[in-house]
Amino acid sequence: MYLITVLGNLLIILTVSCVSHLHTLYLFLSNLSFADICFISTTVPNMIVNIQTHKRVISYESCVTQMSFFAIFGCMDDLMTVMAYDHYVAICYLLNYMVIMNTQHCAFLVLLCFLFSLLDSQLHNLFILNPSYFKDVEISNFFCDLSQLINLACPDMFANNIIMYFTGTIFGFLPISGIICSYYEIISSILKMPNTRGKYKAFSTCGSHLLLVCLFYGTSLGTYLFSDVSSFPRESAVAFVIYTVVTPMLNPFIYSLRNRDIRSALRILYNRTCSGSSI
Ligand SMILES: *[C@@H]1O[C@H](CO)[C@@H](O)[C@H](O)[C@H]1NC(C)=O
Repeated sequence: MYLITVLGNLLIILTVSCVSHLHTLYLFLSNLSFADICFISTTVPNMIVNIQTHKRVISYESCVTQMSFFAIFGCMDDLMTVMAYDHYVAICYLLNYMVIMNTQHCAFLVLLCFLFSLLDSQLHNLFILNPSYFKDVEISNFFCDLSQLINLACPDMFANNIIMYFTGTIFGFLPISGIICSYYEIISSILKMPNTRGKYKAFSTCGSHLLLVCLFYGTSLGTYLFSDVSSFPRESAVAFVIYTVVTPMLNPFIYSLRNRDIRSALRILYNRTCSGSSI
């Protein structure tokens, strides 16, 4: 699964960078693919090594490092909010699309997303940067997970819940409400369209994005809100695998299989490499 994820996402990055006619939405997509590669690389290689060596300890420093990168790249999936905004501009302001989503604006949105992720990761570090809490502690997971570490750092349930809900609100609620607002506008303008072909085209553009959003936010919210790690370690580990491994793996397939632009770009790329090698 790790190899499929890395290769699939690399293929998307390659396709987008080689075929320049794809519009700016695909820049966000290739950034998302890059974030997905990094996201899965923070947990899975380490897990595979641990399984091979039967080693189950991790030093405090590597744990904090893993957790920080996990948070940064996990939060980079908020690029999906940026993509929702892009769909909104494409559908509601079609004639001004090229003016609004120019290169600087796109770069700014990606940068904003990155800074937001950095803030998220540093805020979490603030709560657990005290090595004395973590002497010989055990977490029931295959990587250093934020929520479990916060549980260990602040055994006080009340403070703990406040921290979780505060950061959850800022870093989960804001992007999701952005997506909901964009889709509200998109759907109301689609319903106003006069012809059914236009409607169908607009819906199918948004379909793959919506599927991705549901998959990612569904599993991540599910694992954080409803998994009681202390009572169901096994079930929550399965939920964590879905969230950290399956979602980044499915991203490239959902986009490339359902998307005509990407499919034709892949064909162009394929023809180009074939004719190149025959020369
Ligand atoms: C990410 O987005 C920026 C700004 O749109 C773009 O310049 C850059 O090439 C993208 N990175 C990747 C890996 O596609």
